[in-house]
Amino acid sequence: MSRKLTLPDAPKPMPDRRMSAPSALRNAWPILEVLEAHAPQTGRVLEIAAGTGEHAVRFAKAMRGLDWQPTDVDPERLASIDAWRIAEGPANLFTPIALDATQPGWAATHGPVEMILLVNLLHLISSPEAEAVLSGIAAALAPGGVAFVYGPFLRDGQATSQGDASFHASLQAQDPEIGYKDVAWVKARLAPLSVSILERPANNLMLIARAPV
Ligand SMILES: C[S@@+](CC[C@H](N)C(=O)[O-])C[C@H]1O[C@@H](n2cnc3c(N)ncnc32)[C@H](O)[C@@H]1O
Repeated sequence: MSRKLTLPDAPKPMPDRRMSAPSALRNAWPILEVLEAHAPQTGRVLEIAAGTGEHAVRFAKAMRGLDWQPTDVDPERLASIDAWRIAEGPANLFTPIALDATQPGWAATHGPVEMILLVNLLHLISSPEAEAVLSGIAAALAPGGVAFVYGPFLRDGQATSQGDASFHASLQAQDPEIGYKDVAWVKARLAPLSVSILERPANNLMLIARAPV
């Protein structure tokens, strides 16, 4: 399911179908730093909720041994990803495809893959939808594969800053079902993956979740 939400950092349209999101530009390096240290050298990558496509272009350029498959649920975002791919994409960046990752069973169609990237989706969807995304991630990874889940989270049920508390409240005001998830809740729903957690700038976290070999 896709919601129309009012977000502080909503992507801006460019003269062509490309969109640009300030948050995607800000967090690209803190995410890439982790990917370069922990991603496989080769294999298939499924990027869920790829948004504008700015991450896909940048990360696929940085990691040429990976076959990068961007996906999103929104036709305008898919068009933007494709426009970035055509304008700048390296050969290892594939044509984007539609994927609603909250629909149970998507892993059977889109897996197995050696790597999954999910950035800034879980706080925008309900808990049952997040459960479907996370169980799909665990099911779609090949043996030994790794998933990277990045975003803002509650810790012990609390937001970590006033800005996070305000954003969480603004999301719940738009839809009481959505908002930040607790990191312990997310970790539990990635079982049987083994999860480590890295702090990232601006109170964000990166969960690195590995499938058993
Ligand atoms: C805040 S944006 C993040 C985009 C990108 N990952 C980034 O960090 O720039 C959230 C994205 O999630 C996508 N999305 C929302 N619901 C989704 C769903 N059910 N399945 C897949 N993508 C979804 C939206 O279309 C949007 O592109």
